[in-house]
Amino acid sequence: QNEKDSQFIVSNWAKDHYQKLLHETEEGESIGLSYLMQRGLNQTTIKTFELGYSLDQWDDLLKSAQKEGFEAKYLEKTGLTIIREDEQGKDSGRRYDRFRGRVMFPIHNVSGRVIGFGARTLKANDKTAKYLNSPESDIYHKSDVLYGLFQARQAIRTEEVCYLVEGYLDVLSLHQGGIKNVVASSGTSLTESQIRLIGRYTDNVTVLYDGDAAGIRASLRGIDMLLEGALNVRVVLFPDGDDPDSYIRKVGDQRFKDYLEKNSQDFITFKTRIVSQEAAHDPVKKAEAIREVLQSIAKVPDPIKRQVFLQQTSTTFSIDEQVLITEYNKLVKKDS
Ligand code: CTP
Ligand code: MN
Ligand code: MN
Ligand code: MN
Ligand code: MN
Repeated sequence: QNEKDSQFIVSNWAKDHYQKLLHETEEGESIGLSYLMQRGLNQTTIKTFELGYSLDQWDDLLKSAQKEGFEAKYLEKTGLTIIREDEQGKDSGRRYDRFRGRVMFPIHNVSGRVIGFGARTLKANDKTAKYLNSPESDIYHKSDVLYGLFQARQAIRTEEVCYLVEGYLDVLSLHQGGIKNVVASSGTSLTESQIRLIGRYTDNVTVLYDGDAAGIRASLRGIDMLLEGALNVRVVLFPDGDDPDSYIRKVGDQRFKDYLEKNSQDFITFKTRIVSQEAAHDPVKKAEAIREVLQSIAKVPDPIKRQVFLQQTSTTFSIDEQVLITEYNKLVKKDS
């Protein structure tokens, strides 16, 4: 049995343990489960995603793992426990649980094995982070993973599009609402390997990021990378302050689906709108905005699509197409 297998086994055991705590203990039910229900999740969703709860204690997982005969080093390597350091910063030999008093979101790889966890605090004004995540390990590489892909992969193939959201709850709420082709980048900006992963299932991605400034900026960055990955990208923006989860809860499943239909725009339209808003009527800024859009177009590998986007941009900005193409060629030359 090798190193990785041991890490898979302890992760899977921890997932089972957290699930039992959620469903079969007083603390788990009254705090964890009631929180999830209050967020609108039903039993089917909670079971499908194998959600759990970690007790608000320093060593519940540690002690239970010892009882099961797990070696401490695997808890350590998967980040389930943390080494307590002495004053000199040396290993004191003592350990404590990383995740305490949190709702647990197991993170699965594409074959459904648990490789890590996300964990949300239930305290209203927690001084620590709202979400804690497993650290990198031999089996968990954050940048290679999309949350929910295991549960979404069939639907992505049949629907021929992948919805990309920011957070755990966005995945859960949409899945429950019948939109099963949804995965989360889990807050970080997209990586090349995540994009390659999507590309195994579909060429079409629709980005559903939060309707705040951070979400919009994240979309712009992510889009250029998706384009380079030869994917077709559409974007849906939500009203400021809403994310896909809060919005589907507000308007219901059917109106949410209608909203996606009505408000999805191709990336170039989206980017053009954002940058031209920023530019307002300032011609210098407008020129800059157009160049930014051209930069994105340059990332599209398909020459025919590039041509269509150039035509579109020329119309949107009311710039002569030949002028635009000349500018585009200059830009591309400069970059190569
Ligand atoms: N995230 C994180 N650490 C944080 C904050 C966020 O890892 N301190 C990641 C999580 O994967 C989270 C995602 O970024 O799901 C999106 O963040 P945010 O929009 O702030 O959280 P929500 O998912 O909307 O969380 P909730 O609705 O539970 O408040
Ligand atoms: Mn890797
Ligand atoms: Mn946000
Ligand atoms: Mn959010
Ligand atoms: Mn949210």
